Amino acid sequence: MSNARTERDADERAPEVGELTPPDRTLMGPGPSDVHPRVLKAMSTPLVGHLDPSFVEIMDEVQELLRYTFRTDNRWTIPVSGTGSASMEAAIGNLVEPGDTMLVPTNGYFGGRMKSMAERAGGEVVEVSAPWGDPLDPVDVERAFDAHQPDVFGFVHAETSTGVLQPNVPELTDIAHDHDAFVIADCVTSLGGVEMRVDEWDVDVAYSGPQKCLSCPPGASPLTLNDRAMDKVLDREERPRSWYLDLSLLEGYWGDDRSYHHTAPITNVYALREALRLVAEEGIESRWARHRSVAGDLKAGLQNLGLEMNAPDEYWLPSLNAVQVPDGVDDGAVIDGLLDEYDLEIASGLGDLEGDIWRIGCMGYSARPKNVEYVLAALEDALAAQGHEA
Ligand SMILES: Cc1ncc(COP(=O)(O)O)c(C=O)c1O
Repeated sequence: MSNARTERDADERAPEVGELTPPDRTLMGPGPSDVHPRVLKAMSTPLVGHLDPSFVEIMDEVQELLRYTFRTDNRWTIPVSGTGSASMEAAIGNLVEPGDTMLVPTNGYFGGRMKSMAERAGGEVVEVSAPWGDPLDPVDVERAFDAHQPDVFGFVHAETSTGVLQPNVPELTDIAHDHDAFVIADCVTSLGGVEMRVDEWDVDVAYSGPQKCLSCPPGASPLTLNDRAMDKVLDREERPRSWYLDLSLLEGYWGDDRSYHHTAPITNVYALREALRLVAEEGIESRWARHRSVAGDLKAGLQNLGLEMNAPDEYWLPSLNAVQVPDGVDDGAVIDGLLDEYDLEIASGLGDLEGDIWRIGCMGYSARPKNVEYVLAALEDALAAQGHEA
């Protein structure tokens, strides 16, 4: 056989890849969380077309269930195709027009992402400062409004990078509305796990992701806008920079017309529907209570191990427990040990808190006593291996 022939055969040989056998992990990091078996089952349901009359019905059901979960009557409530950053960019990229000013927080990683998105949308960005690990103080927000008169105010309800829950949401939305601004709330790590009442708390736009407290794989991300916010979007002078996330176009698919815009991720919509059905069966308030109770046991257990939480008790975020790494302990070695020896995922700190904290999620289907006992026992062993006694 000639050399040329041998080389061609080698080129044309298909890669040999074995069957998919990922490890069986327990997911207690900042997301994704463990997916409920019913959601996994829904994902193996055969596809219908994204304009099939039966799918149109499923879309209506998902919208109804999302309204329930967000505690809103907003007509404009949809799953955006993509991860949480897609619903985030849909919110910011549509609400912020070139020349608008957006006020964003500095107290965590995701406020920084809001800033980048607002700038890319052509907005001016101003900041309200708070240290990483603190919530925003309404007094500072009011001051920032008086100084800059922003058109849009964004805040992170559940800051995944610090484990801090933003309290006083109605106070913040009142300040913004007294200044005629719109409020965008990042609820990626709170929706379905931590109290959030979009209508009662007067939030104009809220977005989330499915892979946290909803325990659904990423891919279709909740977004809701009230009529006032949607009117601003529909009255824009300049079209949003993203075609894909232009809500005036997405209205054609998710609104009354149900006409083609893009091919919806059908399997992810099935999954979200099942995840939201689980929320409705449990009852949203019971679900919030379960997260507080199970994560409360996790927090108490961590403190029993001699660990300190990053957030003070008043701002503790049940869905994301940020724990300080004790002096002399190698945070990465603990994370690797838990993964290798226990098939257990927790995460390191992000941004300013890298190396200082571990982030232990307690979300959705992962927020179960069994998971909490497992993480506490495994962590106790991993810490002992590093010479840290509880
Ligand atoms: C608070 C917050 N906002 C936005 C995002 C972005 O979501 P995704 O990673 O699904 O794009 C995340 C992801 O962890 C988050 O925690």
